[in-house]
Amino acid sequence: MHIQNLANKPPAFHAALLIFTLAPLYLGSYQYRRGHSYGGTSTSASARPAVTDFVGEWLDVHPVQPFNPSAIASYCNHTDWHPNLVFNLKNANGGVGNVRGNFLDFFFFAIEAGASIILPGMASRSQTDISNVWADRAPFDLMFDEAWFLWAIEQACPQMAVYKPEKWQKMADALPGNYLPRSRRMDEDQGNTQKAYLEHLDGWLKASTSFKPDGLTFLNLERTLWNVDTRSLPLGLRRNLGQLLRINPVVRRLAAIAVQNLSLKYYVQVDPRDPVPKRAFYGAHLRTEADAQNAGWLNEPNTNFSAQSDAYMEQALKHKLEVVFVASGNATDLALFQAKAAAHAPPLTVTSKLDLLPPDALEQLQQLTWDQQALVDYEVLQRCSVFGGFVKSSFSYGIAITRNQWLEDEGRVTDPWSVMHEEVGVAFDDGISRVLARDGFHEQRIPRGMWP
Ligand SMILES: *[C@@H]1O[C@H](CO)[C@@H](O)[C@H](O)[C@H]1NC(C)=O
Ligand SMILES: *[C@@H]1O[C@H](CO)[C@@H](O)[C@H](O)[C@H]1NC(C)=O
Ligand SMILES: *[C@@H]1O[C@H](CO)[C@@H](O)[C@H](O)[C@H]1NC(C)=O
Ligand SMILES: *[C@@H]1O[C@H](CO)[C@@H](O)[C@H](O)[C@H]1NC(C)=O
Repeated sequence: MHIQNLANKPPAFHAALLIFTLAPLYLGSYQYRRGHSYGGTSTSASARPAVTDFVGEWLDVHPVQPFNPSAIASYCNHTDWHPNLVFNLKNANGGVGNVRGNFLDFFFFAIEAGASIILPGMASRSQTDISNVWADRAPFDLMFDEAWFLWAIEQACPQMAVYKPEKWQKMADALPGNYLPRSRRMDEDQGNTQKAYLEHLDGWLKASTSFKPDGLTFLNLERTLWNVDTRSLPLGLRRNLGQLLRINPVVRRLAAIAVQNLSLKYYVQVDPRDPVPKRAFYGAHLRTEADAQNAGWLNEPNTNFSAQSDAYMEQALKHKLEVVFVASGNATDLALFQAKAAAHAPPLTVTSKLDLLPPDALEQLQQLTWDQQALVDYEVLQRCSVFGGFVKSSFSYGIAITRNQWLEDEGRVTDPWSVMHEEVGVAFDDGISRVLARDGFHEQRIPRGMWP
């Protein structure tokens, strides 16, 4: 369909180098899509031993499931599409919480503008200085499941072409400068409508001397984070847009293995088909790594190692959970937490992916980058019984917000924000997730801006 569209364009369009180099690629990615059967139980259900395959069963489950493309599809149906408009996101950066937010805002801004996209990549962090998040570039699948994304976007929004240029392919010139889309935060200003955004985009294009209305328009979108009032949109759109992104399955598999071993080693019952197993284990995000220290985060009230570890232990005990899975990129603090929990009365068992992976999986883990290793934790924590995280972390908040969508899907609606008025030093609590400490910026941006 896209191919026919391309063939019907005026000659100027054919001449555009971008399409010249990318059209075959798009065909390729289309084939790729059809070769991967996603959705339902199609893949390997029959090839798999029914009861014993913990890892396979765990991997089949996502907290927000099933993916329902229809709300996105209906939004895409109401959009005016411009096949010669292509958006590129060049500067997504940070850990999974931020990159996910950058990508989802980008997809949304592209949908509203009727633009096609280049499959986004991201900046990757330096392995030697984790505060330097701009050290290198990495492709989409460093973090996310590319085959799933291509399949899901085809279901939800077939009007949007997704291009994936190879490194050696010369790209058309982008319009000079990055376009920063006008905010869609309707909650901050009633004027932040789709219409106002499109007029702003139009104005920006017309002001660019390189813009040719009949030609190919290739533009770099400046990254945004939580810049859409997701709660001003149709419920199904808010719920499902975030599900376009799933974590890379190779990395997720390590999470499944860790959870299985947690269950075996500590004799806790985990049903792999249960998105959020009851009374199995507590999950904590101990956010005390060097980059958090460098940013000065840990000098504020209720934020340092002792405040975080105390709060997590207290909450685990309150929920009668004796096994605590801890995520931290800091091995020293992890060991400290372990010792502190063991000495506590009553004692708690603290474990981590490093303690749970068998040798071959551990070796695989160690070959991953720092942010990819954190994805293993991201997946385990999404599916713990009760979660505790840290307010300045988009990683923590992302876990809490996705789990909150699961609660909502279950019909268990709570007000996670009311805890701010009831307790000191807690920003979010919906009964299955709690976010520790306070932070004006995140509290203002995330409740309406983060995609579940
Ligand atoms: C979108 O439009 C297509 C083609 O007109 C139609 O088949 C589909 O049902 C529409 N989807 C929704 C959700 O409106
Ligand atoms: C881990 O935390 C300690 C303080 O407990 C700090 O000195 C060290 O730099 C941190 N290391 C990493 C890798 O974050
Ligand atoms: C850690 O934070 C707590 C609570 O904010 C504070 O009372 C304590 O003095 C801090 N400890 C250190 C070592 O800074
Ligand atoms: C469980 O973890 C231990 C390390 O603590 C490892 O030796 C063992 O192979 C793991 N078993 C499974 C089934 O993953």
